[in-house]
Order: sequence, then structure tokens, then C-alpha cells
Amino acid sequence: MENKKPKIILTGDRPTGKLHVGHYVGSLKRRVELQNSGEFDKIFIMIADAQALTDNADNPAKIRDNIMEVALDYLSVGLDPAKSNIFIQSHVAELTELTFYYMNLVTVSRLQRNPTVKAEIQMRNFETSIPMGFFNYPISQAADITAFKATTVPVGEDQLPMLEQTKEIVHKFNAVYGETLVDPEILLPSNKACLRLPGIDGKAKMSKSLGNCIYLSESEADVKKKVMSMFTDPDHIRIEDPGKLEGNTVFTYLDAFSNEGHFAEYLPEYANLDELKDHYKRGGLGDVKVKKFLNNVLQEELSPIRARRAEYEKNIEGVYEILKKGSEVAAETAAQTLSEVKAAMKINYFDDPAFLEEQIQKFNE
Ligand code: TRP
Repeated sequence: MENKKPKIILTGDRPTGKLHVGHYVGSLKRRVELQNSGEFDKIFIMIADAQALTDNADNPAKIRDNIMEVALDYLSVGLDPAKSNIFIQSHVAELTELTFYYMNLVTVSRLQRNPTVKAEIQMRNFETSIPMGFFNYPISQAADITAFKATTVPVGEDQLPMLEQTKEIVHKFNAVYGETLVDPEILLPSNKACLRLPGIDGKAKMSKSLGNCIYLSESEADVKKKVMSMFTDPDHIRIEDPGKLEGNTVFTYLDAFSNEGHFAEYLPEYANLDELKDHYKRGGLGDVKVKKFLNNVLQEELSPIRARRAEYEKNIEGVYEILKKGSEVAAETAAQTLSEVKAAMKINYFDDPAFLEEQIQKFNE
């Protein structure tokens, strides 16, 4: 049989809060599809608690509290522990060791130019006092990806600079120490509306502190309440008024979530989203009707997730075992890569019989 390079996925999330519908369309849904495609030899899904601590050093309780929440979110969207290895980053010590070696291959000014890091430094008011661990997290992310020999990293577009940084580290490492690390590819969501789903207030980013998220674990009633309060077109006052689609959150969500089947089921007077949009632009279509439709669409997507979550919540010990086992498997995999890295760097003294021979000769000449 031909020796084909295995296809491996690595991706993950920081456990700083429950996951929301932005995570779902931006990444989770795709992961489940990729998992079920059968095209991948291995899939690793990481709860990035060590990375979350880089900007939450003073709040470890927050990270601890969200480990199980994120695990439940993963399982409830359909990640299957029989196919996807779910693990906790801090329990794979090899990642830290890899980070330490990769740090030698990256300059401070290169990190300073990383646009995601730049934006986050501003957002967190870190300008004058950037924690070293935070500054370094793009390098640790390269360790996460390469430790599992990932070929494919499905993430949101905000992670693009991290992937570029990782690829640079891979190229540099391989150039200096010989072909060792696997060059990964990023996989972005194909639907534009899914790249960055706005909050229900129309603000560009969904964030817990802004209170503008719809969570995957939210009740049916709360989802409905949030949909009915969504930001639309502030100038669309009377039903007859022509409405605007740009910046209209309800339509952005429909772009991300709806399909023709939903129209047939819940709004058969329109064949598809284009017809609905045309009517809205012309005038004569009220926000409430569009919101009710969006609510139906969202509930259809979220109700199986809610049901699966309820099942897993009854078996927290089982979820704990999944994480524990997953972390053990991940550590074994990363240990293998680490030993290859050390061999490439020629610091594998005790696994390398040539080392002792060399030294004996050197001192007995
Ligand atoms: N940075 C990612 C986030 O903010 C989490 C993460 C850590 C990650 N390491 C990764 C994602 C490696 C993909 C690959 O959610």
C-alpha cells in the first residue's frame, strides 16, 4: 500500500466562557462535518486552558469553571469522543517544552507585528505591561499545532495570523534542523456571514462582557427573547418603509443559518432568502415577521444540541473520563513529536548512542 501522509486536525478554544452561536457557525459546525466526513485519520480538539491563563492569570477560577462547560458544548454539538480526541492543554506538558525551543526561532519584533496580538493588547489595555506569557502565546499555539502533526486547522479568521506565525516557525525549524515538523493549512468557514457573526446588538464581536451573545446552552425562551430584541435597521420604523440589509443583524444571522428548507417549512410565501431580502428592501415587510422566522431557524438548529447537552449533563463523570483519557492520548502523541524534535536538534543525548561514542573518542584522542 502507498504510504500516504495522514490527515490530522487540531483545533481548540479558550475556556473563558460558554460557547455561543458565533463559535458554532464560525467553527464548531464545520468540525463536526469534518469529523463525520471520514476523511481524517486523527482529530484533536483542545480546551486551551493554558492559553486562557495568559490573559487571566489572576482569575484561574474562571478557567476552571469553564472546562466542563466547553466540554459539554463540544459534545452537545456532535463531536464524538470515539472519533475526536478531546483534551486539556495544560495536561500535555510536552507543549510547554516545544514552546521553549520554538521561542528561539521567533523575534520580539515579529511577535509585535502579529495583528491579533496587537488588537488584543489594545483591547485589554496591556500596552505598558504586557504579560510575557500572553505575548508568547502565538508561539505556544505553534507548539499546539505541530505537536499533533496537524495538517488541517479549522478556525475563525481571527486565527489567521497565528497560523502564519506557525508556518514560519515550521519553515524555520525545518530549515535549521532538517525536515521534522508538518506544515499546517488553515481551514476558514466558507460562508462569509459565518466568518464573524455579530452580537445581537449589531456590534462586530459577540462577547460575554457586552452581553450580546446567544449561547448554545441557552433555553428556548431565552433564545426567542434575544432574537426578538435583535438590532435591525433603525430607520425601518413602519412596515411600509424600505429597509436596509447592511448592518442588519437579523439578515446577517439568516445568511449564516437559513436554507431553502427552512423557507418551505416556516415561511412558504418566499422561496428563498433573496426573495425575503428583496421584499424587505422594497418595504412592506416588518421586522417582527423576519425575527419570528429567524427564531424558528435557530430553534431548529439548537434544539438537538440542547437535548444532547441535557443527556451529557446527567453523566458528568463520563465527560470527566472522556477528558482524562483524551488528555492521556494527546500527551502520548505530543511526546512522540517532542522526541523527534529533540533528535533533530541533537539534544537527545540519552537516546542517541552516537553521543557517548563521540565523547569517548573526543576525550581519548
Ligand atoms: N487561540 C484559539 C482561541 O482563541 C485557541 C487555540 C489555542 C487554538 N491553540 C490553538 C486554535 C491551536 C487552533 C489551534 O480560541
